[in-house]
Amino acid sequence: MNSQDIRSSFFNFFYSKNHQFMPPSPLFNPSDPTLLFTNAGMNQFKEVLLGNEKPKHSCLVNSQPCIRVSGKHNDLEEVGVDTYHHTLFEMLGNWSFGDYWKKEAILMSWEWVTEHLRLDKNKLYATVYKTDKEAKEIWLNETDIKPEHVLEFDEKDNFWEMGATGPCGPCSELHYDQGEAACDKNNDPSQGSCVNGSSSRYIEIWNLVFIEYDRREDGSLVELKQKSIDTGAGLERLTAIMQQKPSNYDTDLFVPLLDKIASLTKVAYTSGEAGIPHRVLADHSRAVAFAFADGIRASNDGRGYVIRRLIRRALRYANQLGYKKPIISQIIPTVTTRLGDAYPQLKEHEAQSIALAKAEEELFLNTLIQGLERFENLRSTLKTDTISGQDAFKLYDTYGFPIDLTQLLATDAKLDVDLAGFESHLAKQKEQSKLAHQKKTARREETDPVFNAPEGFDATDKVFEGVYKTKAGGGESKLPQNAYERFLLAIHHTATHLLNAALRAKLGTHITQAGSLVSPNKLRFDFTHGEKMSDQMLQDIEDNINEEIQNNVAIRIQEMGLKDAKALGALATFGETYGDVVRVVSIGEHNIELCGGNHVKKTGLIERCKLIKQSSVAAGVRRIEAICSNSFVTQFLDEEKATLKEQIDLKIKKI
Ligand code: SER
Repeated sequence: MNSQDIRSSFFNFFYSKNHQFMPPSPLFNPSDPTLLFTNAGMNQFKEVLLGNEKPKHSCLVNSQPCIRVSGKHNDLEEVGVDTYHHTLFEMLGNWSFGDYWKKEAILMSWEWVTEHLRLDKNKLYATVYKTDKEAKEIWLNETDIKPEHVLEFDEKDNFWEMGATGPCGPCSELHYDQGEAACDKNNDPSQGSCVNGSSSRYIEIWNLVFIEYDRREDGSLVELKQKSIDTGAGLERLTAIMQQKPSNYDTDLFVPLLDKIASLTKVAYTSGEAGIPHRVLADHSRAVAFAFADGIRASNDGRGYVIRRLIRRALRYANQLGYKKPIISQIIPTVTTRLGDAYPQLKEHEAQSIALAKAEEELFLNTLIQGLERFENLRSTLKTDTISGQDAFKLYDTYGFPIDLTQLLATDAKLDVDLAGFESHLAKQKEQSKLAHQKKTARREETDPVFNAPEGFDATDKVFEGVYKTKAGGGESKLPQNAYERFLLAIHHTATHLLNAALRAKLGTHITQAGSLVSPNKLRFDFTHGEKMSDQMLQDIEDNINEEIQNNVAIRIQEMGLKDAKALGALATFGETYGDVVRVVSIGEHNIELCGGNHVKKTGLIERCKLIKQSSVAAGVRRIEAICSNSFVTQFLDEEKATLKEQIDLKIKKI
């Protein structure tokens, strides 16, 4: 059976037992701050399990990509070193919400593994929580498992919890004995060659959790009204067993990735220690491809930082193979080929994921090469064994050297980094730029004139009541205080659509919105693009926008079905969820976007648009800031002139 057959067999088996399919959730849930990543199939059912929400059906089945590199479930150090831990793995799961209970869950799992996968009963073990006599009796009396293969364990192994808080309960796991040849612990139980030991011989393949409690913040367990079943079976491990391979990496899920890595690096893959770099690269490329496809972006904090670290970890291993160019971006297409049918988001966002990975890799490789030299200069002049906060900040601020890299190199050189000192320099810098920004904004607001709404703008337009303010990738817009602000927001909003179209026209259709802020005196637009734009390119983009403004193009707003909108070619914002009926904003024939914001009815009302700044917000994501209207642009240009004059005067004084 290949991995695809195993996945289908699992689904079909549970369909035949009255389960319905539930699509997997994205790899993160912005409204659950207790988890950085989806780490189990049950995450999306947390509220259902707690009894706060109703499920679409009481019995569900699916396959959920999970990442376990942070928090309670963190396998990162094992990944690549052993052959069966992964940063991202697929978890096959079935759920009962107040429907069947322990007996059915156990019997169905036994039926699938012994009758459908036809695993050898002599090699299967079941573990139960030490006080769970009910589960133990079911295994012993209702299945034909070997009685001596039913084993009791304590909380560490047989009480499952999703995180520090949340639904939890005792569990029963199925383990498989791969035989003596698979053992990396001398087949010696005292060295870990046993169920729940640390050997590669006995592998956990399926966890059946009997959710009965809610773990509260104070550590107490509160019994839930409704009892539920939550199971998880690792597809990669099952595949290895079904294909009789000693390692997950020898299965059809990984071999094509290892082949690709070997062909790029010209270093053949071998099992054992020499194969660690290949395994890390294969594993991390899958995690990165899924994370990007789900809208996660490499960044300096939170989940974005974990992804950034995975990329860096992988590149350090590639470096060990003598490969010094971006590599993950070259492996992603193989990930898509392998898994794109089961997870269409990989196909849908492949081009973008490749671009993002490449940009992030280039950034790191450049920084690594240049930074190593600078770091070496710093190290050779150090008089203590600590890099001061100021020096770490200088590396970061002046040379773009990320702090974690400084830390990594410091560890290698047996040095410490004054992290607190670094943070305080960083905080000071942020405060200074905030103050400078506030000063500028205040000056503009003082000059607001009395406002008479021009023709082509409806200041009472209701849409603003539903003004949208959403997660990254979506738009963000301030609620206006008066008609004049409404108007200013509308012109900056319409100009944002013109900017998006101009970017796509001038730079290419890989441009996707990655964030947007519309305020009465400025617009800010983040988009996926790997390179800094030349002054000429910025001018071309600005000219394109101003041409559309000159042409006084009409803006049309319609509501329609999502399908119809997509058929029209409407641009949707990546990472955004839309209802069945959407609002479509069209500026002329070709500029069509799904959007809930307020707009002017003719582009001429914008009067003029000026791009005032470009910057980089993350690898592969650039930001443009712009202002609209004659008065703001004139004011901006006057301010620029005044600053320039001040600088020249200062220079003259010095002469
Ligand atoms: N929640 C359990 C686990 O992750 C079973 O799905 O192991």
